[in-house]
Amino acid sequence: MNEAPTTPMKVKFYSGEDIPLELHKVRIVQKLYLRPIDERRKAMEAAGFNTFQLSTPDVFLDMLTDSGTNAMSDNQVSSMLRADDAYAGSQSFARMETAVREVFGTQYVIPVHQGRAAENVISKAFIKPGDVIPMNYHFTTTKAHMEMNGGRIFELYTDEALIIKSSHPFKGNLDVTKLKGLIKEYGAARIPFIRLEASTNLIGGQPFSIANMREVRKVADQHGIIVLLDASLIGENAWFIKQREAKFKNSSIKDILLTMCGLVDIIYFSSRKVSSTRGGAICTSRKDLFLKVRDLVVLYEGFVTYGGMSVREIEALAIGMYETTDETVISQSPSFIAYLVNELDKRGIPVITPPGALGCHVDARGFLPHVSQTEYPAGALAAALFIISGVRGMERGTISSVRDDKGNDILADVELLRLAFPRRVFTLSQTKFVLDRLIWLYKNRGLVGGLKFVDEPTVLRFFMGRLAPTSNWPERLVRQFKKDFGDSL
Ligand code: F0G
Repeated sequence: MNEAPTTPMKVKFYSGEDIPLELHKVRIVQKLYLRPIDERRKAMEAAGFNTFQLSTPDVFLDMLTDSGTNAMSDNQVSSMLRADDAYAGSQSFARMETAVREVFGTQYVIPVHQGRAAENVISKAFIKPGDVIPMNYHFTTTKAHMEMNGGRIFELYTDEALIIKSSHPFKGNLDVTKLKGLIKEYGAARIPFIRLEASTNLIGGQPFSIANMREVRKVADQHGIIVLLDASLIGENAWFIKQREAKFKNSSIKDILLTMCGLVDIIYFSSRKVSSTRGGAICTSRKDLFLKVRDLVVLYEGFVTYGGMSVREIEALAIGMYETTDETVISQSPSFIAYLVNELDKRGIPVITPPGALGCHVDARGFLPHVSQTEYPAGALAAALFIISGVRGMERGTISSVRDDKGNDILADVELLRLAFPRRVFTLSQTKFVLDRLIWLYKNRGLVGGLKFVDEPTVLRFFMGRLAPTSNWPERLVRQFKKDFGDSL
């Protein structure tokens, strides 16, 4: 159980084709519906041009997120049957604790109901008003929790991080020179921790290197500052380290994970991504840090042997932890992403390179240069792609940002349409369908216009907000689609 079997990942096709190969078979399936374009347009209108507001029967390929949507393995599903229902002392939790200890190497494991719950508890335990928090890049829920507790976020990404077309292997690195400058300016006492996010989500699923982690650790030690790791996408980051950091070419994923985790003081994660279940955890080997968060978990999440999770999910999480050390599992999503990214890039369609984790990130500013950032090009592109294909992606741009004190949008650094690849969910022909429709949309990109808010929540507005097109562009788009595709779906 502890040593996950791995298959060598290099599979060459005699034909010379460079395509991903599924190293699993499909045994349970879910029927999908591809609705006619008029119905898709109506569904988009009813959803207020926000893909979060769509219902799944209207969606063909759900590429909104990999959060809680990865395919489960047979071992995970079967483990759920032996779940030990108990408020306290559940053996399901004991198995999860053992799994996390073995995979991350941390002594203490505290379950929480999902990633943002960990962020809530950690922010409450460590941040006081006026604190400054350095990180490689923010994540939406992370920023919201840290700011609500009075912290100020500083994103110390490297110069390469926001360059769309790049071959830099580690765009998720934290710039250590900037870190030293920040510590000098504010003083270590105002820095509760340095946060590193594995496979940095909002800049295109880009990893950091172990060399960079070591440099961060060194600076942190010089100033007695804690290092916090958001490990929600740690498996993929470890996979990229094996692929891209020469020193670790021959290391096992298990060893890379232990090396990464050994360089930080606290780890938290959303297991919705790590292991395809719900839940998450906060992990540390330091008793003082464990005690700081433990009682808050009891207050906000539930007893320390379930933390808001069901015992079934806890069992599946435990198996998922071991599976994270299996190259055939963690390479699956990155290899499909790489295929789509490379095919788009070859055709000059703007997309974040090198390919990262989580999804294919289309550069909406490059795709729709005629739509200004205040008219939300990434949101418009997400809506347009859904209308012409039934593919649901997620806006990761200015809609996912916030407004300043004067009520103006704080423009996002990058405007991205994220097409997530939950692990082992989509096939190659489905991926080719996405590619085909994106090629068509790029050719007809001049037809796509902007969006404006008609109903805008004040917190995390991208989830529940409603928008409307700034012109009748959806109608023009549908007309052109029908011209080119006839009665094809
Ligand atoms: N940290 C990272 C890096 C994440 O990607 C997420 C969630 C969270 C924290 C919060 O975890 O959803 O379990 O509360 N990302 C999802 C996404 C929502 O679609 O990218 P959560």
